[in-house]
Amino acid sequence: VTVYVPRDSAARSVGADDVAALIEGAAIAAERPIRLVRNGSRGALWLEPLVEVETPAGRIAYGPVNPEDVDGLIAAGMLDGAPHDLRLGRTEDIPFLRDQTRVTFARVGVTDPLSADDYLAHGGLAGLRRALELTREQVVAEVTESGLRGRGGAGFPTGIKWNTVRNATADLKFVCCNADEGDSGTFADRMLMEGDPFTLIEGMAIAAYAVGASEGYIYIRSEYPDAVATVRQAIEIAYAHGWLGERIFGSDLSFDLFVRVGAGAYICGEETSMLESLEGKRGMVRAKPPIPALQGLFGKPTVVNNVLSLASVPMILADGAAAFAAHGVGRSRGTQVFQLAGNIARGGIVETDFGITLGDLVERFGGGTRTGRPVRAVQVGGPLGAYLPVSQLDLPMDYEAFAAAGAMVGHGGVVVFDDTVDMAAQARFAMEFCAAESCGKCTPCRVGAVRGVEVIDRIVAGQDRSKNLVVLNDLCDLMTEGSLCAMGGLTPLPVRSALQHFPDDFGGEQ
Ligand code: NAI
Ligand code: SF4
Repeated sequence: VTVYVPRDSAARSVGADDVAALIEGAAIAAERPIRLVRNGSRGALWLEPLVEVETPAGRIAYGPVNPEDVDGLIAAGMLDGAPHDLRLGRTEDIPFLRDQTRVTFARVGVTDPLSADDYLAHGGLAGLRRALELTREQVVAEVTESGLRGRGGAGFPTGIKWNTVRNATADLKFVCCNADEGDSGTFADRMLMEGDPFTLIEGMAIAAYAVGASEGYIYIRSEYPDAVATVRQAIEIAYAHGWLGERIFGSDLSFDLFVRVGAGAYICGEETSMLESLEGKRGMVRAKPPIPALQGLFGKPTVVNNVLSLASVPMILADGAAAFAAHGVGRSRGTQVFQLAGNIARGGIVETDFGITLGDLVERFGGGTRTGRPVRAVQVGGPLGAYLPVSQLDLPMDYEAFAAAGAMVGHGGVVVFDDTVDMAAQARFAMEFCAAESCGKCTPCRVGAVRGVEVIDRIVAGQDRSKNLVVLNDLCDLMTEGSLCAMGGLTPLPVRSALQHFPDDFGGEQ
């Protein structure tokens, strides 16, 4: 019998390794040897460690399984899918998972992340094989027609970016994957890398073919040691199978792929800072133009895409642009991998079509707050995203609808707060975060963030309130308009949304 215990670091952090070892030992003791697969996580994080058993009726889930539950589970007949208090039924019938549309995450939690056979058995490499039958131009056209937009947060059309790199003339071009997932409350890049690294590798190989690049780098944050190890192993396996290296599948594509580990700076998730860091320099933001598509790594034309953008590409090539574009709403095509975090009953990954409302994510999938208290605010799009009040829970998850509401979808992080949250403290935190993480290159951000903390402190203390509110407003204008990159440029978003929607927390009506 096959038993699945996730190797994902979220599952490991709550004891999955112990659970896996105990199940193996107990199965041997019960004379029922098992085949243990360390899969990725299904993304229902409150159920981790989520153990699955393969039965004739499908995979049966048990969770959350703690080490002390293992003996009882084996005695109760878990290996045959028998009833138990922790039995959740067929994994695919768990409402949180059943109601999702898994496209980018189709294999995550299902397969053994480092099994080449599993990858192929679940449709792996179909996208790359098809791409290699097309011209470079056709591959780029397919990505453009799919409507895929950058999943890192900015939502720039991926096909247009690739076309710029494809059209650039140079002796060397690069594909760089931004896996410096620094947004608070986000973890989709990590779970994809730990749960289905071959998809990312395949997506990067397709990108390399499309633009004529021969070298790739995956820049992973140092806080993700498991992802680093998994991706490194996956790259070795890919080389051994001829999925990377010289003349892949006999085509004219030769592509070498390397992993680089960041050193813990949030700003290295900004693409030009990441390129500086990849070049071995301090992570400082470069002025744009020139855009990296024309002058990127070592001055060469470079595709810089987020993990999820690149991991969406194999499916687009395998199933066609129309299949991807059939999902979504307006100009937000495809699915988005939302990440539910903060004070939420059911946290984890929710991949659905764009267009689902924020309320649906928070209430139907997330089950409201973990504390059971009313939701008061939801921050969408990381630490630089807006705080939305409950009255805006009916907003559809759509780049344009969010922009119109003064907010952003960003990388899809959804962080929930209950009614005990102090929104003035959250606004102060945004400025504090910016002050700590600023690369220091431009004054509005480097100095502005420090002044921002001070002025919010004065407002909350009731010192010259109305005058300081004007100062804060001016400062936000200056940071928005005068900052070189999104770090300083977007910090006013959480600050202003907190002021606008939760004025009482700042000591009175605004
Ligand atoms: P941007 O709008 O300046 O650029 C988006 C992308 O499009 C870049 O790769 C840029 O080089 C490219 N681009 C722009 N014009 C182009 C053209 N004409 N041809 C080809 N490519 C072109 O946004 P930026 O500063 O790269 O990203 C800001 C976003 O980052 C924020 O909205 C935020 O959501 C997100 N973010 C994500 C984080 C994460 O952990 N995933 C952390 C912090 C911010
Ligand atoms: Fe650096 Fe901040 Fe200026 Fe960005 S906005 S370049 S992080 S100082």
